[in-house]
Amino acid sequence: MATAIIHDADLSALSTFRLPARARELIELTAPEQLTELPASELPLLVLGGGSNTVFLGDWPGRILLNRLTGVDIQPLDPDHSLVQVGAGESWHRLVMHCTCNGLHGLENLAMIPGSVGAAPIQNIGAYGVELSQVLDSVTAWDWQQRGVVRLSVADCQLSYRDSRFKSADRDRFLILTVSLRLSHRFEPSTSYDSLTAELARRHLAPPGPRQLAATVMRLRRHRLPDPARLANAGSFFKNPVLATAAAEALLSEFPRMPHWQMPDGRTKLAAGWMIERLGFRGYRIGDAGVYQHHALVLVNHGQASSDQLLDLVGRIQGAVDDEYGIALEPEPNLVPRPLPGN
Ligand code: FAD
Ligand code: EPU
Repeated sequence: MATAIIHDADLSALSTFRLPARARELIELTAPEQLTELPASELPLLVLGGGSNTVFLGDWPGRILLNRLTGVDIQPLDPDHSLVQVGAGESWHRLVMHCTCNGLHGLENLAMIPGSVGAAPIQNIGAYGVELSQVLDSVTAWDWQQRGVVRLSVADCQLSYRDSRFKSADRDRFLILTVSLRLSHRFEPSTSYDSLTAELARRHLAPPGPRQLAATVMRLRRHRLPDPARLANAGSFFKNPVLATAAAEALLSEFPRMPHWQMPDGRTKLAAGWMIERLGFRGYRIGDAGVYQHHALVLVNHGQASSDQLLDLVGRIQGAVDDEYGIALEPEPNLVPRPLPGN
């Protein structure tokens, strides 16, 4: 059957930040074979999953491929592990709960992250002390350069904090078709993230069972983050800055209360939310674009925000953080079309 193309498609409901925008063409991808049959086009391409890390600042002058590839396949790898291969269009949270409830462990801390499985490697999703890189085995992807399917190992994906080759060196080159996770039959909870440790202790759940761990993460998230169904947002709007040891130490001697984490490579990650809150931005608004009242790293659309209002707000926060701490905050979501080179 020929693939249907929707022309002049409304995108506002396809991104959780819900700014008004349209795309020249929208195509729903439900089978990989469609990729070989797509009518040729010179239009720029954008892949979209759940739209929870994509903010449309204006109309997209090209084609959008809406990833709706499904399927879950579980194969034993060795006595202690299984390999779970998942279609890129599946819901990430549903996958986490399916695995957690069926004796496949390693994903509990990543419960309730919105969006699709196929987007998870793009920014190496992470939460509460766990990153995708710890459980990812490999992905299969459509390579637009070779016009064929390739397999990329976790090392090939070059994952690091909120980054991967898909966001940098090979931006726009691959469309992820499946994601394979190496999950453990043995449950070894990761509970060292401060707020998670405290919440587990408060509820007398140390050590927790797998469902208790996922439920505790979900409780923390409900408390800290806005539900996109009620208040439009894209999660953290800025990455936490990562500094070399000497620079971090200098800043921390001036601001000793700033929360920070040691990275495996020896550098230090600093809490941007703390910096922004301290500058008085919680609840601050420019029109309908605002800083979430309960978490300063999250920007929200109170209803009718425009991209100009959002960019104005982003610029003011970046300017204030730079003036106070000498740090250039980088946006975390994919801003489309790109407002600045390098974003
Ligand atoms: P989309 O927004 O659809 O796409 C994101 C990027 O990936 C785009 O650049 C898109 O082109 C690309 N992409 C998507 N699918 C594919 C594919 N199949 N192949 C190639 N490229 C693709 N993130 C975290 O890491 N940790 C969190 O704790 C977290 N919490 C969040 C909480 C809230 C309330 C919200 C709204 C967001 C949060 N996020 C978090 C961000 C977001 O949920 C993740 O980045 C998620 O992986 C995005 O999935 P998506 O399908 O919605 O991506
Ligand atoms: N903080 C403040 N004020 C604020 C917000 C945070 O002081 O307004 C402090 C907190 O008290 C805490 C520290 O900053 O001491 C860190 O806060 P939190 O645990 O909420 O985490 P975060 O660094 O703000 C990161 C991720 C989130 C992820 C959480 C939990 C980034 C950019 N964000 O946020 O991911 O869920 O950790 O692990 O790394 C996302 O990427 O969209 C996202 C939500």
